Amino acid sequence: MSILNKQATILKLGDINYKRNKQIILHNLNFEISSENFILMTGQNGSGKSTLLKIMAGLLKPDSFDLSYKQCVQTNSIEKKNSWSAAKKFLRQNFCYLHQTPYLFSGTVYDNIAYGLRHQGLSRSEISHKVSEALKIIALPHLGNRNSYALSGGEKQRVAIARSWVIHPAFILLDEPFANMDKHSRNSAYDIINQLKEDNIGIILTSHDPHSGELDFNRHMHLHQGGMIEKQA
Ligand SMILES: Nc1ncnc2c1ncn2[C@@H]1O[C@H](COP(=O)(O)OP(=O)(O)O)[C@@H](O)[C@H]1O
Ligand SMILES: [Mg+2]
Repeated sequence: MSILNKQATILKLGDINYKRNKQIILHNLNFEISSENFILMTGQNGSGKSTLLKIMAGLLKPDSFDLSYKQCVQTNSIEKKNSWSAAKKFLRQNFCYLHQTPYLFSGTVYDNIAYGLRHQGLSRSEISHKVSEALKIIALPHLGNRNSYALSGGEKQRVAIARSWVIHPAFILLDEPFANMDKHSRNSAYDIINQLKEDNIGIILTSHDPHSGELDFNRHMHLHQGGMIEKQA
C-alpha cells in the first residue's frame, strides 16, 4: 500500500521546437502523457532526449510550446499555461528530472533524501518514516548515515531516485539512469522504478539502447532527426 496520494495528471505538449546554434534539435513535437504512463524514450546519442526531458522539467526554454493539462481524470477541465514563466512553474512542480550523474549535496544520505520533505513541512517522525522506507526500497537501509560523497555512482543514482520518490511528483524523468550502474545497482533500481509505477508516478526513462528489456514499459517513444514517433511498447 502506498504512503503517497494518487491522482492522475494528463499533460498535452504541442508545438515544441528547439534550435541550438541554428541546428534544429526538436521539430514540431506534439504528444500527450499521463502520470499512469511508463515510457521508454529511445534515440541515438545526440537525438535530443536529454533536451526534451529538460524542457519537460522546465529547465530549458523551448523556442515555442503549447501546454495544456488535466490534473485529475474525473474532470474535463483543461487548463493552459500560455507564458513560459507560468509553464515553467507548473513543469517544475510536476516533473522531477534526474541527471545521469546526479547531484547530491554534501551531507548524509538521510539528509539528501529528507531534503524535499523538510521543505514540505512534514514532522520529524513522518520524515523519518518515509526516508527509511525509501532506503529499504533502494536496498541501502544501512547507508542512511553515510556521507553522500562516499557513495559509488550507482548508489548515488539510487539515492537520487529515492529523493524524488518521497516527494511524489506527477512525473519522474530518468535520463540514462543505468549508464553508471553495475548489475546489483541495476536490480535495486528496477525495484524502485517499479515502486514509482505502483505509486502512479509517471516515468519517462531514456536509453540509447532500445533493448531495456527488464522494465515493463507501456509506451515507447523514439526520437529521430528532430521528430518523434510512437512505437509499439
Ligand atoms: N550545451 C550544449 N551546447 C551545444 N549543443 C548541445 C549542448 N547540449 C546538447 N547539444 C546538442 O544538442 C543535440 C541533442 O543533444 P541531447 O539532447 O543531449 O541528445 P541525447 O540526450 O539524445 O544524446 C546534440 O546535437 C548535441 O550535440
Ligand atoms: Mg542524453
